[in-house]
Amino acid sequence: MTLLNTIVLDDISQAAAILRRGGLVAFPTETVFGLGADATNQNALEKLFAAKGRPSDNPLIVHIADVDQWPMVAREMPEVAQRMLAKFAPGPITVVLPKHASICDAVTAGLDTVGLRVPSHSQARALISAAGLPIAAPSANRSGMPSGTTWQTVLEDLDGRIDGVLRGSTCAIGIESTVVDCVSQPPRLLRPGAISLAELQTVAPELSVYLPTDDQDATVNSPGLRHPHYKPSAVVQLVDNANQADNNMKSKRMSAEKLEQHLANCAYCGLDESKLVGYLGTSRHFESVEEYAHELYEFMRSVDRLGIQFLYCQRPVTSGIGAALSDRLTRAASSK
Ligand code: TXA
Ligand code: MG
Repeated sequence: MTLLNTIVLDDISQAAAILRRGGLVAFPTETVFGLGADATNQNALEKLFAAKGRPSDNPLIVHIADVDQWPMVAREMPEVAQRMLAKFAPGPITVVLPKHASICDAVTAGLDTVGLRVPSHSQARALISAAGLPIAAPSANRSGMPSGTTWQTVLEDLDGRIDGVLRGSTCAIGIESTVVDCVSQPPRLLRPGAISLAELQTVAPELSVYLPTDDQDATVNSPGLRHPHYKPSAVVQLVDNANQADNNMKSKRMSAEKLEQHLANCAYCGLDESKLVGYLGTSRHFESVEEYAHELYEFMRSVDRLGIQFLYCQRPVTSGIGAALSDRLTRAASSK
């Protein structure tokens, strides 16, 4: 592909003009940075899939500035989706709805449904409003990598492949939105996110959790779940606590000198603190599960920048945002 000159933008109207011309602009949201394109422009969408290296069978989420603009994106609004949007939007929730004909088929990978999200981040809303378009935006990273949560990281992955990135504050949450399929009956949670299952069930007690039974099933119901996601280059291993990580790292039978080299090639992050901090290539411990979620992707990337091969991550509790964090960690550690 032709290399573009990616500009770092501060001006919302300049960024909106690029989107209206069919260009690609990355922008901050409260979850992660999105890579925006006009959801009604086939040519812009082709550029977006190429820039990310994203498989064309993985559908994109369409972003609008206000809930009442949903008729630009969807044919109808099921009652359950209305209830969820009334409670949680603008915010980190995506509802899957029947697709409107004006949204390109490339957005939805040929599905008759479309993911709709109203971000709460002020720059995101201002940009979408100024563009006056429904904006398709996957996370702003090369496909398969951890999502970008700072504009600098977005540039690291996509410099020369996109037209611009809106300089923005970091994303408050740090992991992607909760995705709920509101077309199926009963509605199903497809991807855990900042809004937990328990919170969703306060407005939709009938909600179930979608567990794909095989690859074929996942392809039909939520194509994105089938593709490798959120993975650093380092090999990720999950542990129950820092002690278990320390023991695993030290368990190799090797000379003291070799062990020192091995530990320098290991990293750890979690809620507990590792006792091997001074020996590890890098490590982080977090004060809360929210901080863990907020920092995880940037930490994974810092591990890769240092060329460290092994990353040990502590499993969090699975309540609140812990369920989403746990989901991303499990994917990062999976061999697929
Ligand atoms: O927080 C977020 O959701 C971020 C920000 C930028 O909004 N976006 C994001 O997009 O994470 P992406 O493309 O990385 O993930 C979209 C997920 C994928 O798992 C995809 O399969 C699912 O949403 N999805 C999108 N449209 C769908 C549809 N019509 N049916 C089922 N799943 C869908
Ligand atoms: Mg993504």
